[in-house]
Amino acid sequence: MKLTAALVSVALSVALLPAAAGLSQAPPEANEDESKVPPYTLPDPLVLADGRKVRDARMWTGERRPELVRLFETHVYGRTPPGGPRPRFEIVKTDRSALGGRATRKDVAIVFGAGAGARRTVLVVYVPNNARGPVPAFLGLNFQRNDEIKWPISTIVERGYAVASAFYQDLFPDRADGAVDSVLTLFPPREGPQAWGAIGVWAWAMSRALDYLETDRAIDARRVALIGHSRLGKAALWAGAQDTRFAMVISNESGCGGAALSKRIYGETVAAITKRFPHWFCANFARYAGREADLPVDQHELLALIAPRPLYVASAVDDRWADPKGEFLGALGADPVYRLLGKDGLPVREMPAVDQPIHGTIGYHVRSGGHDLADADWRHYLAFADRHLRGR
Ligand code: GCU
Repeated sequence: MKLTAALVSVALSVALLPAAAGLSQAPPEANEDESKVPPYTLPDPLVLADGRKVRDARMWTGERRPELVRLFETHVYGRTPPGGPRPRFEIVKTDRSALGGRATRKDVAIVFGAGAGARRTVLVVYVPNNARGPVPAFLGLNFQRNDEIKWPISTIVERGYAVASAFYQDLFPDRADGAVDSVLTLFPPREGPQAWGAIGVWAWAMSRALDYLETDRAIDARRVALIGHSRLGKAALWAGAQDTRFAMVISNESGCGGAALSKRIYGETVAAITKRFPHWFCANFARYAGREADLPVDQHELLALIAPRPLYVASAVDDRWADPKGEFLGALGADPVYRLLGKDGLPVREMPAVDQPIHGTIGYHVRSGGHDLADADWRHYLAFADRHLRGR
């Protein structure tokens, strides 16, 4: 599809809105009335753009999967340029008696470029001290600095998992003009309405963190569960879609541009998200503001790109902005791809009751309460990971 010049300029001017459109502003009015959800048609993840039906795993992997990745690059997140600066890993600190002696904490600087233009983040890694061999790990970017991470790290470590995390804004500060202080200064200049944005960069950063974990002999990098909450859930899904080394992906309340269907127009919409966070997506995505029916993809197809790997989608009942039902329907819409690939997918058709997790190869729960990555969510993620990542 070709963009007209006029549309390009609308999209680009949206992309240049000032940083003031940012985090502190209250969410705009949104539809939170199920009876006002318009009729919509979802694209079939198992039908190619030319109308052919995907018959088997070979057609999925060889044709439809790359086609869907291209559609998300073109219309939603932008294209991740190949190559990019190579990371350098430097262990800056090792503490063998972290968490009261139960874990070893390593602070690993991941450095891109050199000299004054270098960019860096620090990946904090906790590994259980009583492990008898390489352990599976939970990896995810965080909203806090590394000493304030709000995850139940002791519990996770006691269950035999490593934890790895870095501050999400290190490689792309989360503001409309964040690109100037981001790792993008080490890439060729961005051009056009398909140029990637912050979600793409955060996703890329997660893959570079996995590059590090592959070098750490305490960790089994073939058993890494990628987790993200909210905007970082969107980034985790996009990372898992592009980088099949991630063994499992967990989307905690990722909402619009994450697990929730865009075409339902419930809670946050394409118009709302591209206006408040113009730097997250490629400029093309803003073209679908108020025109979600024209989107050639929807988010169930992003979830399908995780198949056949275990995928967990979680919502919170009061987090209507993220559209819990739209997230459930996203997971359900990915199910046919899991089944084609010989997995059980999502074992229910109807949204389960609050606090009643459903665990197939796709997991889903809607937690009581609001927008948060809570200990109750972690309890379900640990059970899901025990089921899928243990004994492999
Ligand atoms: C805002 C935004 C959401 C996002 C959330 C978060 O509410 O509208 O899209 O998921 O912030 O990251 O917490």
